[in-house]
Amino acid sequence: MPPPLLRKRPDMTINDRDEEARAILRANDRGGYTVPNGRVYPFQWNWDSAFVALGFDTFDRNRAWQELETLLGAQWENGFLPHIVFWQDDPGYFPGPAVWGTGRTPVTSGITQPPVAATVVRKLWDSAEAAGDGGAYRPRLAALFPKLLAWHRWFRDFRDPEQRGVVVAMHPWETGRDNSPEWDAPGEPIDISNVGDYVRRDTSHLDAKMRPTKLEYDRYLALVQFGRATGWDHGRISRKNPFRVADIGMSMILLRANRDLAVLARVLGDESAAAELDDLIERAERGISWLWDDKTGTWCSRDLVTGRHSGFITSTSFLSFYAGLADPARDAATLAHFDRIGASVPYLMPSLDPADPGFQMIRYWRGPVWAVVNYMIGTGLTEAGETDRGERVRGDTRTLIERNGLYEAFSPVDGTGSGGDDFSWTSAIWLAWARQPRS
Ligand code: GLC
Repeated sequence: MPPPLLRKRPDMTINDRDEEARAILRANDRGGYTVPNGRVYPFQWNWDSAFVALGFDTFDRNRAWQELETLLGAQWENGFLPHIVFWQDDPGYFPGPAVWGTGRTPVTSGITQPPVAATVVRKLWDSAEAAGDGGAYRPRLAALFPKLLAWHRWFRDFRDPEQRGVVVAMHPWETGRDNSPEWDAPGEPIDISNVGDYVRRDTSHLDAKMRPTKLEYDRYLALVQFGRATGWDHGRISRKNPFRVADIGMSMILLRANRDLAVLARVLGDESAAAELDDLIERAERGISWLWDDKTGTWCSRDLVTGRHSGFITSTSFLSFYAGLADPARDAATLAHFDRIGASVPYLMPSLDPADPGFQMIRYWRGPVWAVVNYMIGTGLTEAGETDRGERVRGDTRTLIERNGLYEAFSPVDGTGSGGDDFSWTSAIWLAWARQPRS
């Protein structure tokens, strides 16, 4: 466990915080994989593990690679990579393995999560190479590559039914932004009348004010029941699921991940995979325009069923730079929103525009700042030459963690930590990115 009450000490230095972050990663390590937080999330989560690997890479390279190797060990034959792997049961979480009923070994959920893994593997590879460790890690890269490629093909085959070059989420949990208001209208047609009684576990660990509502949970479960009734037939789900939303976050993340995977294909000398990935990139670059909402001048998600844009400005609206998109008019409109929001709250980037009437500073994905999203926004801006804005996002992330601790998320208004403490991905982002001094 982390040194007791370390985070509460007023005279804590950056080095103490580093030590605490490493201690949290070690304490949440279950042997080859890391739980996001021991109480609230006691299993392996997909995109959490990818970010966690970046943290391990700052002090234990082998362990960083192992995190992803373990995750990819739970891949299905069709390339699908689950959002949760239940390596061992734990009564502290609902819905657990029995509710998902995927009938797999190891038991997994039946939905996926944002595909950041390929981008992280590229980072790990670059860092190994820079340290002169390329020779030792190349075989591990070569072993991970086909699995990542298979997963990206699965997205093409099962999460883009109209072949638009976007990612269509079949469950709010798939997007990693569970209760974003982007899912409210598309969630309305979900039939919740047969969900039955169930006991949530999240609200016994955390204040209900910080968590999704009962209506949202009913919809989450109805979608799990739907998927289960198909026997987790991803083809059928992609045609018939009652919730099908082209998610702006996953679409941007997959575009970026395909670029990084294409680089890795070339490192490995696999020209045919590189060409296949180039095609996917090109399709996405064209197709993602479908997610630009002229009315609000923003990138946002769009309901495949009704064709409606969500119209919400969320933190993922700012991932176009990370995705490597460049369009002068859209970039200017996006940066104008960035500056407006940046002037309205002390800490960027709130998960929902604070000017939105539904903004709630501590309710999960309806307000709070998430370090992992900041990492993607900040690095994207800096790579695109928007260094001041990139540094603003990084500096705010640093201040939030420095003053408040390694929480799941933070209020953009007063910095209060929300959700679980001792959080793995926040610790990882601290070590890998946020901790550097303000420039
Ligand atoms: C919540 C988050 C999701 C994350 C998981 C574990 O469900 O919304 O993005 O992966 O917790 O940390």
